[in-house]
Amino acid sequence: MSATPERAHWKSRFGFILAAAGSAVGLGNIWKFPYITGENGGGWFVLIYLACILLVGLPIMMAEIFIGRTAQKSPVGAFRDLSTPKSPWMLVGWLGVAAGFVILSYYSVVAGWAMHYTYLSATDAFAGKSPEQISSIFGELYTNTSLNLFWHGMFMLVTIGVVIGGVQQGVERCSKILMPALFLMMLILFGRAMTTDGFGQAFDFIFRGHAEKLTAAGVLEALGHAFFTLSLGMGAMITYGSYLQKDDDVVSTSVTISVLDTLIALLACMVLFPITFSHGMEPAAGPGLVFKNIPVALSQMPGTTFWATIFFALIVFAALTSAISLLEVAVSYFIDEKGWSRSKSTVVCGLAIALLGIPSAMSGGTGIFGEQFAKATEVIFGEGNGKNWFDLFDYLASNWMLPLGGLGIAMFVAWRVGPEARERGFKAGSKFGSLYWGWVALLRFLVPIGVVAVFLNAIGVMPRILQVIGLG
Ligand code: PFF
Repeated sequence: MSATPERAHWKSRFGFILAAAGSAVGLGNIWKFPYITGENGGGWFVLIYLACILLVGLPIMMAEIFIGRTAQKSPVGAFRDLSTPKSPWMLVGWLGVAAGFVILSYYSVVAGWAMHYTYLSATDAFAGKSPEQISSIFGELYTNTSLNLFWHGMFMLVTIGVVIGGVQQGVERCSKILMPALFLMMLILFGRAMTTDGFGQAFDFIFRGHAEKLTAAGVLEALGHAFFTLSLGMGAMITYGSYLQKDDDVVSTSVTISVLDTLIALLACMVLFPITFSHGMEPAAGPGLVFKNIPVALSQMPGTTFWATIFFALIVFAALTSAISLLEVAVSYFIDEKGWSRSKSTVVCGLAIALLGIPSAMSGGTGIFGEQFAKATEVIFGEGNGKNWFDLFDYLASNWMLPLGGLGIAMFVAWRVGPEARERGFKAGSKFGSLYWGWVALLRFLVPIGVVAVFLNAIGVMPRILQVIGLG
């Protein structure tokens, strides 16, 4: 089936780790994690999130990289090769390709906001403005359809440009430059945050939070976020793993990626909260946390233009290395399964996703994909809870597609893959072979229970169960 006579591979394992860490580290780390940490009261939530990464995220990451590296195929072909032709397990692969289309279509809109803010910062647009004026810039952008469409298009063009370059020239080279740059920028901003008055308060909030604020729903939210932040459940890691050599170590690679991702998420908190607290602002401000609070905070410090430009460029970088992996899942499917060339596959998929993103870019206003859409979806979500197109896509991907895909991947490796191939694959090139049974046990029991809990939460059943057993 394969159209490429020889499969592309990473130049080095280091290149793979940076590319995979680049996929994991994104808007989920810098924007969402600090925000949900804020909402759930810090400390305890962070601890539970770390446990979810270790006990659920890490085993699934190993399962995905194992599948990709063993099959040397993108998700759909990988499920077929490791089971039977026409196997229903291939559905998990197709779900992943679909999730890549859905997530990138709206992810690109948020990345576009970050691009616009980088431009605003670099052109000194926040100078001399009051906090109210600066805050209102986000609302103006959110409702401005043409500006959203422009930046969404720009971001998709850049993503297409990188993916067209292929595994070594595009994805690996780009990640090798951007990931260390991101780390460096984070450290610089962290150093800056350490000098603010709010640092002690922020440290206390993140690491010594209040148990009473943590709810059962918060625990489930931590678990769900572990999926999104590690890029699990849609085959991104299967695809990246398929460019590994057969004897590259699955275990230590997965551990390194997860540690890097967690480190960046914690660093993001340590940058964001000191700034937020030292200006007496709200830690749980949703999309506004990054786009409103940060420019307001930085505008009151020396060197606004410089620090704000760095901060938003950093978010664009993080989003780009994630977007690359989202597009690569779809692109590799058409290369492997349909025999398309890389350029054709990238341009067709990239343009299709850009088109699919148009309604998301138009979701901020009162129009057909915005308020009108939200009004219409009240039929499903109840009065006052309607979702615009953008929100609906985010909801479908995060609450349905990724948990379902993750469950499928865990079950496939735990119950369907031949035990010998599984054991050989886990132990190949690894010093951690003795962890094998622990991994299988987590995939067989803990992971399905955890994922089903998230899933039931998404369809609203879990809160009722928790109420019945007295925990809700
Ligand atoms: N992990 C990315 C983030 O935290 O922003 C988002 C993401 C990328 C999710 C790739 C899924 C994926 F396959």
